[in-house]
Amino acid sequence: MILVTGGAGFIGSHTCVELLDAGYEVAIIDNLCNSQRDSIDKIKQITGKDVKFYEEDLVNKEAVEKIFEENKIDAVIHFAGLKAVGESVQIPLRYYHNNILSTLVLCETMAKYGCKKLVFSSSATVYGNPHTVPIKEDFPRSTTNPYGSTKLMIEDILTDLHVSDNEWSIVLLRYFNPIGAHASGLIGENPNGIPNNLVPYIAQVAIGKLDHLNVFGDDYPTKDGTGVRDYIHVVDLSKGHVKALEKANSCTGVNTYNLGTGTGYSVLEILHAYEKACGKTLKYEIAPRRAGDIPECYADTEKSFTELGWKAELDIAQMCADSWRFTQNNL
Ligand code: NAD
Ligand code: UD1
Repeated sequence: MILVTGGAGFIGSHTCVELLDAGYEVAIIDNLCNSQRDSIDKIKQITGKDVKFYEEDLVNKEAVEKIFEENKIDAVIHFAGLKAVGESVQIPLRYYHNNILSTLVLCETMAKYGCKKLVFSSSATVYGNPHTVPIKEDFPRSTTNPYGSTKLMIEDILTDLHVSDNEWSIVLLRYFNPIGAHASGLIGENPNGIPNNLVPYIAQVAIGKLDHLNVFGDDYPTKDGTGVRDYIHVVDLSKGHVKALEKANSCTGVNTYNLGTGTGYSVLEILHAYEKACGKTLKYEIAPRRAGDIPECYADTEKSFTELGWKAELDIAQMCADSWRFTQNNL
């Protein structure tokens, strides 16, 4: 059985669908601090399969031990964590407490029960402001906010863990910009309050909840002056986790992979792709640059293709169409 921490969330729920479709048994631990219980029902509805759900906090050692006591957990995919960059600057202790402590409790429990295969959700944020693009896995790491620091620290903690006991098999996955939703329209991303990220924000403009998009800067040294990112469909990203799990099952060590498409799109390109998907013209205004933003970020995908046999397949039109279907069904 695979334990998925944070499995009720955006990427976790899509990954549970892919795991169940691939024939794995799945247990989820999630405290629902940034997700809803009904995503568990929707995972079951999409796959026609059952999944065990524990509504528990991962920092609660007793609760985590109980899960390992009740199930034979073969491997863990660890998504649980807080992820809002701006909020992490306001309340850093909450981010360090939640993200670091939950990982320590998880790893201590795994070691106690002899489960030493772990796939961890890291982020392209660990590359800081890269000197060149595309970004390779061996580029230097740095961060500019507490959220990013938790990712960097956890990468180091897991690496130290493997040094201390080389039976561990750890896969660090560095996601670029996950967007889109499941083709069923049942699961997707629905952030609380006003969205920080680009596509959830555009979705709310398209549905009429927000008036217009603020484009943060049009004077970057990029193709049209707006920021360029590597947007990846959440379903492709989730399939990457199934491949990462196979990798963890086949060897020990710490292996790090970028999960991106390798192609960068500008803010305006994404806006226009979304306009096509929803069939409306969407208002936007040019606003000042957002503090901490970098001009351009996209992945070198060679290593994940060669070593995991994985490559993103869905294009921007599909990402926007799926996001729009989910938005219409759920907002
Ligand atoms: P999400 O907020 O939708 O999912 C995270 C889930 O973890 C939520 O369901 C939340 O309730 C749960 N959770 C948080 N703290 C917990 C705790 N202490 N105990 C139990 N459950 C807890 O986020 P997501 O977009 O699905 O991201 C999943 C992971 O991927 C996170 O670690 C995030 O940092 C990382 N990541 C996300 C992105 C992105 O753009 N979405 C990019 C890079 C990395
Ligand atoms: C952000 C986080 C990053 C995290 C990633 C995925 C910051 C500084 N970085 O990355 O750590 O890993 O999300 O969760 O928050 N944009 C607008 N208007 C908007 C929103 C965004 O123009 O209303 C632009 C941004 O300037 C950027 C692009 O759209 O150029 C993408 O922004 P966003 O979706 O927030 O992702 P990142 O900044 O790449």
